[in-house]
Amino acid sequence: MSATTSVRPVLPPDIKARKGGQPLVVLTAYTTPMARLVDPHCDMTLVGDSLGMVLHGMPSTVGVTMEMMILHGRSVVRGLSKAMAIIDMPFGSYEESPQQAYRNAARLMAETGAPCVKLEGGAHMAETIAFLTTRGVPVMAHIGLTPQAVNTLGGYKVVGRDGEADKVMADAKACEAAGAFAIVLEKVPQGLTSRITAALNIPTIGIGAGVDCDGQVLVIDDMLGLFTDFRPKFVKRYAELGKLADAAISTYAAEVRAREFPAAEHAFADVLPAKAKS
Ligand code: KIV
Repeated sequence: MSATTSVRPVLPPDIKARKGGQPLVVLTAYTTPMARLVDPHCDMTLVGDSLGMVLHGMPSTVGVTMEMMILHGRSVVRGLSKAMAIIDMPFGSYEESPQQAYRNAARLMAETGAPCVKLEGGAHMAETIAFLTTRGVPVMAHIGLTPQAVNTLGGYKVVGRDGEADKVMADAKACEAAGAFAIVLEKVPQGLTSRITAALNIPTIGIGAGVDCDGQVLVIDDMLGLFTDFRPKFVKRYAELGKLADAAISTYAAEVRAREFPAAEHAFADVLPAKAKS
């Protein structure tokens, strides 16, 4: 008799069921090696469209394409064995109509292996979220600061102060009613975050939204100190890998110039040493 053990992957309903439990841990990843590092420690790994700025030097996420998301999404899914992958829908791939969103979400899922997508927008995207979720596409919503709308928002500002709170609450409720399995709150003031988290039956995942969310997400290159172009207030640096890399590269350059690298142990002999006789 043979026993087969198969590990069921984490899926959106499992994440939804974690509402109010131990905080969900989420980090972005864009490549297989980073996904392998993140996987043992995280519940979810987001292939965020932040990759446009972090990896490709773009000024915002607006120029990120479906092809970029598919390439990096595949790479991340290959590196995961435990954490659930979420893939961002890039700007312009879902806003036009529910049908356009479905076509592109299905492509992202089929071509990367990710079991769900994330899209930006509140009440105005509810029809699209309902269209997707009733047709087999689990959706994580993203409200508050929505970076793809930077050109209409006029910058990366806190969203939900000064009379905007009711709208952000209404956005959160509309996304839940439309069937989102979880919702990202970005740069939302912490009092409002607490009220939204208490009002919803789906997990809230915060980035710059205070401690009262059901989970937290950070951009991996920010928290590792690899992306240093700017540093939002909500980023905590858990390492300074950029500084370590700079020191290593500088030592390498100095050793090459001084002919100290490669040393004998990094080079190949012209003649193989004779094998020791036993
Ligand atoms: O693209 C991204 O990395 C994101 C997170 C910041 C939530 O959307």
